[in-house]
Amino acid sequence: MKAIELRNKYLNYFKSKGHTIIPSSPLVPENDPSVLFTTAGMHPLVPYLLGETHPGGKRLTDYQKCLRTDDIEEVGDTGHLTYFEMMGNWSLGDYFKQESINMSYEFLTKELGIPSEKISVTCFAGDGDCPRDDEAADIWKSVGIPKTRIYFFGKKENWWGPAGTHGPCGPDTEIFYDTGKEKCCPDCNPSCGCGKYLEIWNNVFMQYNKTEDGKYVELKQKNVDTGLGLERTTFILQGKENVFEIEVFKPIIDKLNSLATNKNDASCRIIADHLRASIMLISDSVRPSNIEQGYILRRLIRRVIRHLRKLGIDTEELRNIAKLNIDTIKDMYPELVEKQNEILDILDAEKNKFIKTLENGEREFEKIANKLKAQGLDTIDSVSAFKLYETYGFPIEITEELAKEQGFKINSEEVQKLYKEHQEKSRLGAEQKFKGGLAEKNEETICYHTATHLLHKALRIVLGDHVAQKGSNITTERLRFDFSHPQKVTPEELKRVEEIVNEQIQRDLKVVCEEMSLEEAKQSGAIGLFENKYGDKVKVYTIGDFSKEICGGPHVEHTAELGKFVIKKEEASSAGVRRIKAVLIR
Ligand code: ALA
Repeated sequence: MKAIELRNKYLNYFKSKGHTIIPSSPLVPENDPSVLFTTAGMHPLVPYLLGETHPGGKRLTDYQKCLRTDDIEEVGDTGHLTYFEMMGNWSLGDYFKQESINMSYEFLTKELGIPSEKISVTCFAGDGDCPRDDEAADIWKSVGIPKTRIYFFGKKENWWGPAGTHGPCGPDTEIFYDTGKEKCCPDCNPSCGCGKYLEIWNNVFMQYNKTEDGKYVELKQKNVDTGLGLERTTFILQGKENVFEIEVFKPIIDKLNSLATNKNDASCRIIADHLRASIMLISDSVRPSNIEQGYILRRLIRRVIRHLRKLGIDTEELRNIAKLNIDTIKDMYPELVEKQNEILDILDAEKNKFIKTLENGEREFEKIANKLKAQGLDTIDSVSAFKLYETYGFPIEITEELAKEQGFKINSEEVQKLYKEHQEKSRLGAEQKFKGGLAEKNEETICYHTATHLLHKALRIVLGDHVAQKGSNITTERLRFDFSHPQKVTPEELKRVEEIVNEQIQRDLKVVCEEMSLEEAKQSGAIGLFENKYGDKVKVYTIGDFSKEICGGPHVEHTAELGKFVIKKEEASSAGVRRIKAVLIR
C-alpha cells in the first residue's frame, strides 16, 4: 500500500465512523507564535480541544503536515524524518477511551490487515498528577491484546503534550508494531528503542490543561487526540527495512545513488528528507533567512548542499533533483505543481549563496585539520573553529559536523561563547557608527528612532506581548519596523496603533536615558533585544510612563518634537513577521 492509499484509507475509515474530514493546516502555525512549526495534528485544534465549537462537529479526522526540528541531527541513521504527515482522529468531548481503542484496533487489524500478535501497547503508569490508566489496559485486553504485551510507563513515555509551553495534554496509549527482530536483551520492550518495536500510533486521552504556571487542571471536555505517522506506517506495511525505501523517497534515493561518485546512505537519506521538508516549507511561504522559520529552512537547504557535495554530486543538479522530488510527491500535494518554478528558484538562489561560503570554509577547515593531524593532535581549538566563522562565514554547526566526521574533538560551548561575544561586538560597533552618523546633525532620523519605540509599545498593547522587534530601518524619510506577529494586522488594529502613538506624542512625554546592568534592565521591565546583549551596562530609554526599552539611542528629549505619526503600509516581511512603514509629518 502506498502512502497516499494509506492516507485515503484512514480518512475514509474515520469518515465511516462519523468523523468530518478537515484540511491540513499550514506548517507555520497561524495562531501560535510560541512555536515555530506545526508539530502535531492536534496543534491547529487547540482552541477546540479547550472547548470552542468546531464547525466540523465533535468527530474530526485529517492528515496534518508536520515539521519537527529536534530530530534534525538524527536524520540519516534510521527512520527519523523532519517533515512528516500525521494522520489523526479527534473526539471533542464525544467518545473516549473505549471507542478510540476499538477503532484503532479495528483499523489496524481489519482495514490494514496487521495480525493482532504483531501489536504491543503501552499505557500510563500513573503519578501524582494523574492515576494509572488501568481503564485503557482493560480495554486492550478486551479486544484481544494479552497482558504480556501491555506495558506501563511514566510521563516520559506515556504522556503527551502540551504542544508548546501550555495547553491541552494527557496520558496516552501507544501502539507498537513488532518487527519480529530478536529481543535486544531479556528486558527488551517497546520503550527501549532498539528497533524491534516501532511506534505507529499514539492515542492521547486529553483530559488536562497544563497552565502557564505548570499546573494540570482537569478539562471539562474529555477529548481524544490521536496521531499515526503516515510514512512510518507505510514502510512497515510494505515490509521495507526503513522509511526511505517507500515510494515517497525511493526515486530520489535512486537518483542520488546514480549520480554519486562517493556512496553514502546517510547522506542520501539526509538529502531526501531535508529536500522534501524544504519544498514543503517554501510551499507554505517560508523563505530562507537568519531568523526563526527562515533559519531552519536555510539550515535544511544548506545541509542538502553539503551532502550533495559529499556524495560527489554537482550542486547544479539540485534543481533537477528537486524537480524530481516534486514530481514524486505531487499526487499527495497537488498545490506543488503551480508553485514549482518559485520553489526551484528559491532553492537555486539559496544554493548559490551558500556554495561560495562553503568552498572557502571547507578549504580552510582542511588546512587546520591537516596541521593538527601532522602534529598528532585530536582537538580543534575553539579560536580556530570560530575563526572559520568570523573570517569565512562558515557556519559553526558545519564546523562541528566536519570535526565529528573526522574524529576531532571540539568544545562547542566555548565556540558558541565566542560567537556570542562577536555578535555583541558587532552590535556595539554598528551602534557607535549609527550614533556617530546621527550625532552630526540628523534630527529627522532621531525623531524616527523615538517614534519606533512608541510604535513598538503600541503594537504590544494592541496585538499582545508576543510582538517583538525583528528588524528596524530608519531613513530621513520614514521608519520601517519588522515584528513578530502571526497574521495580518487589521485596518482597525493599525488605526488603534496609530492613535496610541499620536496620543503619546501629544502628551509631550519626557525621554530619559539611564545606564544599568542587563539584569537591572530586565527587572525594570524594559523590552528590547536581550539575547544579544553581553556588555556590562546597557542603556535604557524611558518615554514618560509609556515605554521602556533597551537601546543605544539617541532620542529626542520630548515626544512633541515628533509631529504627527502616520502608518503608510503594513505587509508580510517573512513567515510570522510583519512589516510596518510609517512617516512623521512635522
Ligand atoms: N498529539 C499526539 C502526538 O503527536 C497524537 O503523538
